[in-house]
Amino acid sequence: MPCPALPDGFDATDPDLLQSGVPHPEFAELRRTAPVWWCPQQRGITGFDDDGYWAVTRHADVKYVSTHPELFSSTPNTAVVRFNEHINRDQIELQKLIMLNMDPPEHTRVRQIVQRGFTPRAIRGLESTLRERARRIVDEAGKSGGGDFDFVTDIAVELPLQAIAELIGVPQEDRARLFDWSNKMVAYDDPEYAITEEVGAEAAMELIGYSMNMAAARKECPAKDIVSQLVAAEDDGNLSTDEFGFFVLLLAVAGNETTRNAISHGMYAFLTHPEQWELYKRERPETAAEEIVRWATPVTAFQRTATQDTEIGGVRIKEGDRVGMFYSSANNDPEVFDHPERFDITRDPNPHIGFGGGGPHFCLGKSLAVKEIDLIFNALADTLPDLRLVSDPRRLRSAWINGIKELRVARA
Ligand code: HEM
Repeated sequence: MPCPALPDGFDATDPDLLQSGVPHPEFAELRRTAPVWWCPQQRGITGFDDDGYWAVTRHADVKYVSTHPELFSSTPNTAVVRFNEHINRDQIELQKLIMLNMDPPEHTRVRQIVQRGFTPRAIRGLESTLRERARRIVDEAGKSGGGDFDFVTDIAVELPLQAIAELIGVPQEDRARLFDWSNKMVAYDDPEYAITEEVGAEAAMELIGYSMNMAAARKECPAKDIVSQLVAAEDDGNLSTDEFGFFVLLLAVAGNETTRNAISHGMYAFLTHPEQWELYKRERPETAAEEIVRWATPVTAFQRTATQDTEIGGVRIKEGDRVGMFYSSANNDPEVFDHPERFDITRDPNPHIGFGGGGPHFCLGKSLAVKEIDLIFNALADTLPDLRLVSDPRRLRSAWINGIKELRVARA
């Protein structure tokens, strides 16, 4: 039965729709009238082709799909990175080397290894360096005198990349290259960047090559760092050099765009809700970072594939059907959130699923991301407490990232 208020052929992954911002009125309509809805084509959550898929829009249903990997597989492509056609390996096989695209038991094995780099102790170990970096980034931006500046380039971009570089021990002199590769891999949906799929694929291969060399060097000559820990003695249950390369690739995509956009959306939310900024400056509530992630929902959607005939919310799904989990819709579901349209940094509890719906792929970098968001807004509240909005943000055109490309601000 058609959804009454949506046009025929409606595609919930249409980048033009997503570019208009979150939350979309179309999702409210779907949650109300057709919460598991067949879209006949996708302009690409992250897929290879234009096949149809089920749009799952209610919080409870997205959680259900996330927590049932035996019914909804992540293979072959929860996330697709374009790889260079010229490399002599099957594209699907390459996607499967990315952890997001794995199913148990392979996923369980890799996850257990890489988790070592994300223990509370490891994150605490980074905290003072990241605090110092956050302060420096904000101080530098503040030196722009009375003129306006782009919050995204001058503030939001830097810390997430520095955090990943710190985590995996990329030396300072190589960081500009790491940043360049990361940016090229994620930006090709937006014509303004004029980055072709080939350039994105080239960047992915270069980053993987760089990381594999790094892993090989540490195997040869171990240091006291996380890379050495992850790749030491492969046969003792560690990562292969190949696997390490693909893990760094995932970190560069998963940890970079996401946190950057949470920070940019957070700033925009504070600028447009000045009473929340006053509250933040006064009380610095610990709940703020989670609300920023709910509000921003930087990852709009991921997809799964049904492993057998099954049901979601009473709707029949066939084996092989694609299923899109719309986090942005779930995070605005009034069944779960009182007044989801309110940006409320004291919201508690806040069971948002911006970091995933709680299954085996739940965001590995959540604690790090929350820490980064805290550190940057604390630094802003101390050093640049009086920013004002100069113009409306320019949004990224993307099927799966809720991104801000430019946010011009100035000191009041
Ligand atoms: C997975 C969101 C920051 C590393 C995910 C998933 C989401 C997500 C939605 C998929 C969850 C699922 O399928 O159930 C976010 C958001 C972030 C953020 C919104 C920032 C606000 C980070 C950071 C890192 C990171 C800073 C690391 C440096 C990962 C990895 C996975 C992942 C490695 C794959 C986990 C797996 O497949 O087992 N993230 N993420 N993320 N994230 Fe994050």
